[in-house]
Amino acid sequence: LEFDLVIVNGLVVTHEEVGEKDIGIKDEKIAKLTSKGGLAEFKAKRTIDARGGYVMPGGVDAHVHLQEPPLFGKGSTADNYETGSRSAIAGGTTTIITFAPQQKHEDSLLPILTATHDKASANCYSDYSFHLLVSNPSATALSEFAALRAQGISSLKIYMTYAALQLDDGQILDVLLAARAQGITTMVHAENGAVIDWMTRQLEARRKFAPKYHATSHPAVAETEATYRAICLSGFLDTPILIVHVSSPAATEHIRQAQRRGLPVYAETCPQYFALTKKDLDAPGFEGAKCVCSPPLREGRLDNESIWDGLADGTFTILSSDHCPFLYEDAEKGKKTSISEEFPVGHFKYIPNGLPGVETRLPLTLTAERLSLQKFVEMTAANPAKLYGLYPRKGAIVEGASDADLVIWYPASEKEPFRLKNEMLHHNCDHTPYEGKTLKNWPRYTVLRGEVVYDHDGAGIVGKKGYGQFLKREKSSLPGPRSDAEWDIRE
Ligand code: URP
Ligand code: ZN
Ligand code: ZN
Ligand code: ZN
Repeated sequence: LEFDLVIVNGLVVTHEEVGEKDIGIKDEKIAKLTSKGGLAEFKAKRTIDARGGYVMPGGVDAHVHLQEPPLFGKGSTADNYETGSRSAIAGGTTTIITFAPQQKHEDSLLPILTATHDKASANCYSDYSFHLLVSNPSATALSEFAALRAQGISSLKIYMTYAALQLDDGQILDVLLAARAQGITTMVHAENGAVIDWMTRQLEARRKFAPKYHATSHPAVAETEATYRAICLSGFLDTPILIVHVSSPAATEHIRQAQRRGLPVYAETCPQYFALTKKDLDAPGFEGAKCVCSPPLREGRLDNESIWDGLADGTFTILSSDHCPFLYEDAEKGKKTSISEEFPVGHFKYIPNGLPGVETRLPLTLTAERLSLQKFVEMTAANPAKLYGLYPRKGAIVEGASDADLVIWYPASEKEPFRLKNEMLHHNCDHTPYEGKTLKNWPRYTVLRGEVVYDHDGAGIVGKKGYGQFLKREKSSLPGPRSDAEWDIRE
C-alpha cells in the first residue's frame, strides 16, 4: 500500500477526540488513522510533518451567498463561485453551502437549481452544495421538494423579512409541511419585516439616514418576535428548523427554551455577532456601511458574551460565516449604492445587507480562544455536516468514510500575532469588517480530498479551479420530527 499523502506527528482534533495520530490518505479518502508512528513502514508520495500542529477536519461553512441577484439591496455582489470558493480554502474551509435563489416571479424551483449548478460547476476551489432559497412557495414549487431531495438538496431557506423574499405565516406553514414530508430542514431568517419597515419610517421622519441607523431600524425585538413565531410554527407541525444568523440574547433564550422542551429547533450564529458591535457601524462618514448586515450588529459586550454562552452550552448548533459581500466602492452607483443626490450622506435603507467572512470565520474564532479545540471543530465542521446531511463524509476524520479534507494549524503560541488587511484575503471584496484586527492564527495547509489546495507559507492557493465538486446531500442526521407519523389534523 502506498499512500498519496501522509500527515504525521500532528495533534489530530475532531469533535470527539484529541490525540497524537498519523493520517494516511489514499484516493481522496482518509485511509488510515493510527497512533503516532503507525505509518512508518508505509510509502507515501508526499509527507507533511505536522509536529507541534493541529490537524482538523476541513471547515464546513453552511451559509455562503455567491452570485445572487439583488435581493438584499441593490449593490454589486463581490464574489462569484470562483473567488468565493478560493477565499474559503485560504481560510481552512473545504466545503461551502451556498444558495440557489428563487425570485418571487419564478414559479418552479428545479430550473433555478440547474442555473445555480451552471454558475458553480467547473469554477470551484472547494467542494460545494446548495440550499434552495424559497421566496414563492407556489403549488409547483412545493410539489418539487421530492425532486430536490432526489437531487441531493436536503435544506431550504425562507425569509420573514425583505420585500423581495418575505413569506407570510400561511406560506411558512406550507413550506414547513412540505419540507417535513421530504425530510428537509428549513432554515429561517427570523426578523419581523413589518417592525423593520415601521422603524425605518420613524427614522426617515426624523431625517436620520446614516449607516448606523440600519441597526436602529432592525431592533432586537424584531428578531426576538420572529424567532419565537418560527419556533411556534415549527413546533405546531413538529418539523425541524434552523434559525440562521442569530444575534440577540432574547432570541437565543427562546431557542434554548425550545430545545429544553425537546423541539427539533437548531440555531446558527456567525463571528460578526461575537467579534463586532453597533459601535463598528458608527465609524466616521460612510465607513459604517461596511458593517451593515441583518440582523445587525448588536449593542455591546453583553450581546457578544451571550453569543459565546450559546456556543458553549450547545444552544447554537453551528457557526457559519453568512458571507455576503458587496463592493463598498460600487462602480455602478457609488459607495455601496446608497449615496445619491437626494441622500448625500447615504441612506441606511439602500445599503445592501451583508458582510464578507468565509475566509476569516475559522481564524477569528480560533484567535478568540473561547472554545475548546473539540468544540471549535464541532461548531465549524462536524455539526454543519451532520445538520445538512454530509456526515461523516465531511466534518470528520473517519477511516474509510471521510473525505481527506483537513486544515492544519500551528498553535497561536508559536506564531507572531498580525494585523489583518483586506489585501491578505482571497475574496473579491474591497473591504473586510475586520480590517486592522489582530489575529493570532491562520491555516498553514488546507487539504481537499487529498490534495493540498492552500499552502500558507508556500505559494498560497495551490488548488485548481474546478477541482471542487458538487456534494449530493442526505437528510440531516440530527434528530428530526419527534413523531414519524405524517402530520394531519386529528379530531
Ligand atoms: O445581511 C445579511 N445577512 N445578508 C445576507 C442575507 C441573509 O439574510 O442572510
Ligand atoms: Zn458525533
Ligand atoms: Zn438571512
Ligand atoms: Zn445569509
